[in-house]
Amino acid sequence: KRVEYYAETDSTNIRAKQAAGQGAVHGTLFVADRQSAGKGRRGRSWDSPEGTEIFMSLLLRPQFAPDKAPMLTILMAIAAAEAVRDKTDLEVKIKWPNDLVIGGKKICGILTEMSAEIDYIDYVVVGVGVNVNRKEFPEELREKATSLLLEGKVSIKRSELIAEIMQRFETLYEAFEKEQSLRFVQQRYNEQSVNCGRRVTVLEPKGNWDGIALGINGAGELLVENEAGEICTVYSGEVSVR
Ligand code: BTN
Repeated sequence: KRVEYYAETDSTNIRAKQAAGQGAVHGTLFVADRQSAGKGRRGRSWDSPEGTEIFMSLLLRPQFAPDKAPMLTILMAIAAAEAVRDKTDLEVKIKWPNDLVIGGKKICGILTEMSAEIDYIDYVVVGVGVNVNRKEFPEELREKATSLLLEGKVSIKRSELIAEIMQRFETLYEAFEKEQSLRFVQQRYNEQSVNCGRRVTVLEPKGNWDGIALGINGAGELLVENEAGEICTVYSGEVSVR
């Protein structure tokens, strides 16, 4: 398996996408100690200054249809959550679709980007940021973010955690290739989810609404029961736990 390591780069997602355009193979992993232009979801930035965290992007060239790509993000969330639990004794939970949180604060985010035609995936890049040994966050992140070191009081070897995440992801990916659905991990995901059974506010462009999150379906979409008792499918976007 190929790994490209950078002491510092703009963003491992950008590195992976550029290498994909130049023919880099399925399974190549791009890892950096620091990013000068780390990207988060929804156009946000991902603070990446210290060299104490994990910034990595996995390049995949899946054989399946483009509409299944978001499911890879769900698989990565499971792999990362279970790897963290394996290496620490922390109560890490998944916040749908793909944040990892401890006590409500974020320790990991995933940004998946894809290049595809209507019926064909050229490549998918699954970017993962984990706050591993970070001791401090800027004021504006302090309420929202934490690290494994701050929560667990012990520092963790980043290379070991990367290896554990990748091993778990590979197993899940191989199973997913056969199954072509998330049904085989649906219960496993839901058991680790902070949202399940909780009141959530679904934030949508056409207006926010409240409901009870029931869990994901086989496509990775969140099922939420609204106040009229109807079960709605939330495809993307955000839910806040109340
Ligand atoms: C989120 O908004 O929660 C997603 C954050 C994803 C951050 C990771 S760090 C490695 C990879 N490179 C990036 O520029 N972003 C992702």
